[in-house]
Amino acid sequence: MTTLSFKTLDSLDPRGKKILLRADLNVPVRDGAITDLTRIERLAPTIRELADKGGRVIVVSHFDRPKGKPVPEMSLAPISDALAKTLGHSVTFVPDCLGDVAAKAVATMADGDVVVLENTRFYPGEEKNDPDMSKELASLADVYVNDAFSAAHRAHASTEGVAHHLPSFAGRLMEIELGALETALEAPERPVGAIIGGAKVSTKLDLLNNMIEKVDVLAVGGAMANTFLAANGLSVGTSLKEEEMLDTAKAILAKARERGCDLVLPVDVVVAAEFMAGAPTKIVPVTAIPEGWMALDVGPETVALLKSKLASLKTLVWNGPLGVFELPPFDEGTNAVAQEAARLTKEGKLKTVAGGGDTVSALRHAHVLHDMSYVSTAGGAFLEWLEGKILPGIQMLRAIGQEAVPL
Ligand code: 3PG
Ligand code: MG
Repeated sequence: MTTLSFKTLDSLDPRGKKILLRADLNVPVRDGAITDLTRIERLAPTIRELADKGGRVIVVSHFDRPKGKPVPEMSLAPISDALAKTLGHSVTFVPDCLGDVAAKAVATMADGDVVVLENTRFYPGEEKNDPDMSKELASLADVYVNDAFSAAHRAHASTEGVAHHLPSFAGRLMEIELGALETALEAPERPVGAIIGGAKVSTKLDLLNNMIEKVDVLAVGGAMANTFLAANGLSVGTSLKEEEMLDTAKAILAKARERGCDLVLPVDVVVAAEFMAGAPTKIVPVTAIPEGWMALDVGPETVALLKSKLASLKTLVWNGPLGVFELPPFDEGTNAVAQEAARLTKEGKLKTVAGGGDTVSALRHAHVLHDMSYVSTAGGAFLEWLEGKILPGIQMLRAIGQEAVPL
């Protein structure tokens, strides 16, 4: 990392210190069971390092959206158990993140202990970034470590406010996430390209505008591409598109031309008359999408075109699928391009950084989740980073992390 200007755990001696660790334990849960442990697994090294070096680790996190009041189904208790299992280290769950319960639990900690405090969003002060809540959280600890990149786009008491009151450090996961994003966008090896898929231009407008300024090649896929094709005057049948975004799409195309950014749209698509499994499909050029048919994936010529673009790149950022990958056979385009990106990555020819929203499931579906250089655990935070926004949680580490730490 070259330009990141905040302290990491390299400059913290945790021994005997109470460390407030902001984690993102907001893991996916279905029917009460955690369906993906990735966030917990990625966080574990930070906790292990701090505890092994004699720190007293006080983990705080939100979980789901309880809207400022206790919701029993949104307790962190079961997630605290999962964390203990992953760590192979005992973890004490504390059923409140503020007040006497939290203060007493912290007061009885010994060096190397790990506690998880209850969901910070059980208090309205969390999302309001209430200074009283920040102060109270800070009063529990000697230092603050933020390891929750995926929550850094929220200016909340435990992600932003608390850093005003304690010496602050980036945890290992935060360090890795920021390092990967910096490699991909701040100081990438060029040429750098982005594959941006997804349904709506309207939700990715800022992202596309920022990408045009940063990358050499911008491939647009997913239903978003239909809006661009329509903006180019093509008829897209019954394909999902945003009529009200046509002028915006035209402006984006013009800006790309001005900037010399190679904006790549599909040249052929897989169409069906109905969006359902087993519906008959055809492959057609984008200039010949039949009336009453809809584009649901990119076609083989587009896959070949994207592969040839990948071959010219040194760095790739990937966000969003190219087609409706959840419903085979409309996963073929995404699979083929993702597998090519993975192959080039494994051969050391391409650095690939992926993340945000559906991207992780699309890459997992293509069996290449572990073959990218880095896949971020972040959803919204990854998108906001790609939009070029300043994430409040990271801004605070930059601003405050420079203070001397009492050692
Ligand atoms: C996430 O899952 O993207 C983060 O934990 C943030 O959650 P939020 O969207 O509820 O703020
Ligand atoms: Mg979310």
